[in-house]
This record gives sequence, structure tokens and C-alpha cells, in this order.
Amino acid sequence: MKRDIDSLDVHDRRVFLRVDANVPLSGSEIRDDTRLRAIIPTITKLRSRGARVILASHLGRPAGRHDPAFSLAPIAKRLSTLIDFEIPLAPDSVGRPTANAVADLKSGEVLLLENLRFHIAEEQNDPEHGAELADLADQYINDAFGSAHRAHASTVGIPQRLPSAAGPLLAKEITALERLTKEPERPFVAIVGGAKTSDKIAVLKQLAAVTDVLILGGGLANTFLANNGETLGQSLVEANQASTTNAVYAVAAQSGCRILLPSDAVVARAPDPHETSSVVGVNNIPSTSMVLDIGPEASEQFSTTIKSARTVIWNGPVGVYEHPAFANGSLRIAQALADSSAFTVVAGGDALAVINSTGDADRISHLCTGGGAALEFIEGRSLPGIDILPDA
Ligand code: 3PG
Repeated sequence: MKRDIDSLDVHDRRVFLRVDANVPLSGSEIRDDTRLRAIIPTITKLRSRGARVILASHLGRPAGRHDPAFSLAPIAKRLSTLIDFEIPLAPDSVGRPTANAVADLKSGEVLLLENLRFHIAEEQNDPEHGAELADLADQYINDAFGSAHRAHASTVGIPQRLPSAAGPLLAKEITALERLTKEPERPFVAIVGGAKTSDKIAVLKQLAAVTDVLILGGGLANTFLANNGETLGQSLVEANQASTTNAVYAVAAQSGCRILLPSDAVVARAPDPHETSSVVGVNNIPSTSMVLDIGPEASEQFSTTIKSARTVIWNGPVGVYEHPAFANGSLRIAQALADSSAFTVVAGGDALAVINSTGDADRISHLCTGGGAALEFIEGRSLPGIDILPDA
């Protein structure tokens, strides 16, 4: 167990709170604020204990440039609303004006630093940059589970220099994911969707080793179907993945895991809601069409399997859920998880967006704020942002 924030005397201290406020945006519109809501209790706790809170996050991948499209201004605004307390935005993450704004912070106040990734030195974990960030504060708390797989200045460089602790959200994420990785209650079912197989090779192999049923959907399932000999028309299929899919099957055969692929699909000529769509068996996909969602038969089979599980993890939508015409499969998965009495975990921005759109988020045992970090945790890899924190 990691040292927690109760072990730090934060009163009137400058506390650097690293969070993951990397939320999906359309322009300056926040599409899903799950990650912001998840850190409110930590900010509130630190304020009530009289800390001078320096809040910091990255947003997107601005490649080390000060790009207004990646400004944390919308985040400052939404956090201020959620917490009902004004959280100003500093002009940068380092530099004189920012240091002055930090110096002006009073006990119980909060300042949000501008996007950490406006400096490439952040991602390079440059020691001088780490020292400059650390100089802003007396203590460090990491509550950014979503960034725990990144060895950056703000996740590794600062805790090398300051008394540090794991924030409550980080601790909660670790506890929830350990429930999946250490003796999960069975049957254990995983649903993995999303576009690409190659992004998820390691986690698919790991899930095939530890789950009882591995359900695949989305573009990722197309690749498995294609390597099983189906012809998928114009569908998204990743080339040269036969050795990957074979490796996942080999692990599953050894561990006794059943792999379920969709038996039917919603197809259309393009991922366009104005195109006429139809339902076909996966062995009957027209050469001019592409798979855009799982079909009703697959939805029914997957939902029934989920309902019989005692532990479930879901990562990645099973269709082009942004368009209502191709969202049914993902919505049925969300419904099955919400109706289940199992320990249920939803991980990754897209699956979270689906579950939030159904209004069922509070019927899920754990909404995981990490995408890549959650997958690496499940793979059993060590996460530098967690490893660096001192044990209790
Ligand atoms: C995420 O959304 O998974 C985290 O915020 C990490 O973002 P990154 O993949 O750009 O490092």
C-alpha cells in the first residue's frame, strides 16, 4: 500500500496535486467530465485541511508547444463550477508569473497550472524541469491514475524531490483493479472493443489468460473474424495480425478461456447515419459494406454472458457509437453491466462516454479514469507514477 494523503501535514503548505484532467473536448466543449468529477473529493479535502493547492494536468498532445487549442481554460471553468469555488488558471506550468501566482495562494485556495505538456521537457522527464516544477511546492500528491503509466516530470520527476503520497482517487483505482487482477470472483468476463488489435495485443493475451470469457467487438473483432476466414467487405480490418490473433487463441486454449466474436453485424456502405443499414450474419457481409456495430443476435448473446458473470471489465465500444444508428450494441453492453450484480468496471474514455450517456454510471461498481494506464495495470506492468510513490 502507498502512503496516503493523511500522512502529510498539508496545512498552509503548497501542495502540488497532479491530476488527469485529459478529458475529451469538441473545441472548448467538454464532452465527458468523469475525470473532473472524480478529483473533486480530493480537492475539497485538501482545501478543508488548509492546503494551498497547485493543481496540474496535461491535456492532449500539444507536442511541447504553447497551443491555445490545448489550454486548460475549459477545465478551470468546469472545475470551478463543480466545486463552486473560483479556480484561476496560471499562465504556464513554470516561469516567474506562475511562481508569483503560487506565492499569492492562500490556505484553502486552488490554482490550476496551464497544460504541463506545453513544455516538451515534461514528457522527457527533464531533471531541470522536474526541479523547477518541484520548486513550486512543499509536498506532492499524485491523483492522476490515467497518467500513471507515463514517466514524466510531473509524475516521476517531482516525487523524486518532494515528500509525496498517493491521492484518494489513485488509491481507489489501485484497489478496484487489484480486485480484477488478484483472485477475481468467477465467472470473470471481459469485453474489449475499439478499433485496433495491435494496440491491445498484450492486454488481450493477459485477459485470455485470466478471464473465463473474452468478448470481442468493434474493429478489433473484425480483425479476428478476418483471420478466421470471414470476408468483411469494406470493414476496418488490420492487416498482418494473424500471429497476434493466433497467439490470443493459444493463450485462451491453455487457460480455458472462451473467446466470443459477434455472430451478426449492422452494416452500411459508410459510417454515415444517412446510409441505409442492415443486419447480416458475419459470414454474409456484402463486399460493398462495412461492419459498424454488432448485430442483435450478438448483443443478446453478449448480454446473457455478462449477466451470468461475477466480475466484468469493459474497455472499448463495440460499434461506431457516436452515431445512434450504430450505437445499439454498445448501449446493450452498457445496460447488461448496469443490470448485473457482479463487480463491474468500465475503463477508457469511449466506454465511459457510453455508460454516461445511458444515465447508468452510478450502477457500475467502478468507473476507471485510466485508459492506457488501466490496460497496463491489468497486463501486470509496473506503472512509474505509482512505483515512485513511497510505501505506507
Ligand atoms: C489518457 O487519456 O490515457 C491519459 O491522459 C494519458 O494520455 P497520453 O496517452 O496522451 O499520455
